[in-house]
Amino acid sequence: MKLFVDTGDIEEVRQAAEWGILDGVTTNPTLIAKTGKGFRETVLKICELVPGGAISAEVVATNYDDMLKEALEISSWHEQIVVKVPLIEPGIKLVTTLADKGIRTNVTLVFSVSQALMAAKAGATYISNFVGRVDDLGADGMDAVRDTVDMINTYGFDSEVLVASVRHPMHVLEAIRAGAHVATMPLSTMRMMFKHPMTDSGLTRFLDDWNKAGLSIF
Ligand code: E4P
Repeated sequence: MKLFVDTGDIEEVRQAAEWGILDGVTTNPTLIAKTGKGFRETVLKICELVPGGAISAEVVATNYDDMLKEALEISSWHEQIVVKVPLIEPGIKLVTTLADKGIRTNVTLVFSVSQALMAAKAGATYISNFVGRVDDLGADGMDAVRDTVDMINTYGFDSEVLVASVRHPMHVLEAIRAGAHVATMPLSTMRMMFKHPMTDSGLTRFLDDWNKAGLSIF
């Protein structure tokens, strides 16, 4: 499964990239606005920090003509850029156009399998199914992910199911169990994935024993 970090913060991208396990970065207008820096400058820096990674950058217009202009502009900045498009009617039309041109897309704000079907049929590269925002409403956000993975596999679509709005490692575990292709999450959540109390206590014991014995590697 691919791991993406969900941030516009260059330092966070740099830290996640250093582990060598990062497959891409997702941004959204809120995350970019938080950086206080320019959109193009931020996205290009992210591309540089994650060579070969898929870097999602979102259009902000909501009518087809303007969305297309923005998509063509954004995708011209760098070959790694994946144009992020909201799941609205002109968005799906845009995904069809971009797929015909060979431009990769990430359809965002997807909450149901019927929405995901529209994105898959239009030729979306990634379908971003949000889970945390559904959990916040007292429902199970992973239901739509499971259904969408089944739908993609049943009909043989090429789109990858991207689990978004991930808030904790349990979401990642459930994404793996569902057979999702990608999970995107904040750096803080990615860091939680390293953690296990037995790892910490085990390491403490190893190092104590080593030091008590007065051993050294060199
Ligand atoms: C995905 O691409 C979105 O940027 C993101 O996962 C949204 O997460 P949130 O619901 O925590 O804002």
